[in-house]
Amino acid sequence: MKKLLALLLALVMVLALAACGQAAAPASTQAEAPAEEAPAEEAASNLVGVAMPTKDLQRWNQDGENMKSLLEAAGYEVDLQFGANDIPTQVSQIENMIANGCKVLVIASIDGDSLGTVLAQAKEAGIPVIAYDRLIMNSDAVSYYATFDNWLVGTKQGEFIRDALDLDNAEGPFNIEFITGDPGDNNINFFFDGAMSILQPYLDNGKLVCPSGQVEKAVVATANWATDAAQSRFENILASNYADGTPLHAVLASNDSTALGVENALAASYTNDVYPVITGQDCDIAIMKNLIEGKQAMSVFKDTRTLAAKVVEMVDALMKGSEPPINDTETYDNGTGIIPSFLCDPVACTVENYEDLLISSGYYTMDQINNG
Ligand code: BGC
Repeated sequence: MKKLLALLLALVMVLALAACGQAAAPASTQAEAPAEEAPAEEAASNLVGVAMPTKDLQRWNQDGENMKSLLEAAGYEVDLQFGANDIPTQVSQIENMIANGCKVLVIASIDGDSLGTVLAQAKEAGIPVIAYDRLIMNSDAVSYYATFDNWLVGTKQGEFIRDALDLDNAEGPFNIEFITGDPGDNNINFFFDGAMSILQPYLDNGKLVCPSGQVEKAVVATANWATDAAQSRFENILASNYADGTPLHAVLASNDSTALGVENALAASYTNDVYPVITGQDCDIAIMKNLIEGKQAMSVFKDTRTLAAKVVEMVDALMKGSEPPINDTETYDNGTGIIPSFLCDPVACTVENYEDLLISSGYYTMDQINNG
């Protein structure tokens, strides 16, 4: 009788373990599945929580909608939320997703350092977390990271300026100014430092000069990547350093929303015939006219369709208990260890290749650009 009871007990335990195994916990991640039993209706849920930072910037709308439609096509339910660039809003959106029994969380954070507490709840509940585009810092609940190669974004911008000014051959010196994004976005460490890895030697040898003296990342950062903040900082820079006719040859801008602020400031208060080489990132519709008219020399195209599709593959693998695709296990340490990542390829976009990259590929129609 005792033997029979022991056998039955063992059987029950095996079944319980098998049930937990289905609760989408990745084999090699830091978010372990809890030993708790899930209520019956939760076990059947296939809800995926997708938290995006804001609707203000075109790309996050695209990222969110792409993911939602791909996940739904794959048979998942999706709770897609946008955080209005407000950290408490994003935190409570994620809390709701957890309370609603989501099985995987995909999060593009507003501030990479502010999600520790809510993600501890996700970990408790055995919910794997995929950091989307921006790494979530100092939380051991982050299971995977999917993004573009952010260092490469920065080096492409730096190389573009180096080549456009022919820094290795031209006499110079050339005047340059800098602007990057939100200090709470870990990506700026890759964008800005990547670009500086190319440009710093020319600042050191005097081929590049920064008349405002504003070169440090913390000084050239822009809260929320906001266009109006970028514009007013550049209006000040132009008034203080270029009003006497000093030419501005280049502006390293980490993305399009900040580049647009620079371009607006130039349009308002810069009269020199020398127009600067300005970089950007995202191929936002809002800058495409400027790109075509030569007011912005380049952007970096990050095809959000590719990233969204990759994340859907990751989610699907987690839901099915298999290994999500990754191609980098070295670069992204979030303070708790390396987060296994998938890095997509960014591509430099100029007036020369935008039709191929954006129009022929169906990313935009020419009408969208003209009306943007
Ligand atoms: C993204 C960029 C975007 C910026 C502002 C960054 O984290 O990687 O593509 O331009 O945020 O939203």
